[in-house]
Amino acid sequence: MKTAVIYYSLDGNCRLVAEILKEELGADLFSIETIDSKKRKGLSKFVWGGRMVFARKKPPLKPLTADLAAYDLLILGAPVWAGSPAPPMMSFLAQAAFPAKKRLALFCCHMGGMGKALETFKSRLAENEIVSTKDFIRAEKQEAENLRSSVKEWALGLKD
Ligand SMILES: Cc1cc2nc3c(=O)[nH]c(=O)nc-3n(C[C@H](O)[C@H](O)[C@H](O)COP(=O)(O)O)c2cc1C
Repeated sequence: MKTAVIYYSLDGNCRLVAEILKEELGADLFSIETIDSKKRKGLSKFVWGGRMVFARKKPPLKPLTADLAAYDLLILGAPVWAGSPAPPMMSFLAQAAFPAKKRLALFCCHMGGMGKALETFKSRLAENEIVSTKDFIRAEKQEAENLRSSVKEWALGLKD
């Protein structure tokens, strides 16, 4: 089964999960990158990101050169921002090139306040088959082996 993991990560948590998925599933890895690469810290990062969510902004992305149609399974991952998937993932999903009728698995990383992020994520993908969803809390703060085993367990279920 040919699998791609496509993720957005601002602070590295989703990247960690995506890299473990790549190793466990032999998947190809693609990172969604915004054109705006300015680093924001502390409160201004939350205000900037939260505003984007509430204004339903879709930040412009750098081109992602992946032939998504060539994959049997796409795993999409994004951080939770203000109870929603981070806007760069929404930008990605809104692109015309995103295929319909694809098998998808979705994951989110968050700090314990997931809100309706996975439901929102799923609702944008009604044309696709969602085979599984998973959330990871404070991935970066977990012991590496604990994180690996929970990602591995999820990945095993995706192989079926
Ligand atoms: C703008 C912004 C909004 C956030 N909102 C939430 C939230 O509503 N609930 C939550 O649990 N965590 C929230 N977080 C924390 C991130 O979801 C969490 O740190 C996640 O693991 C980050 O993933 P990343 O490191 O891949 O960027 C927010 C972070 C940012 C930057």
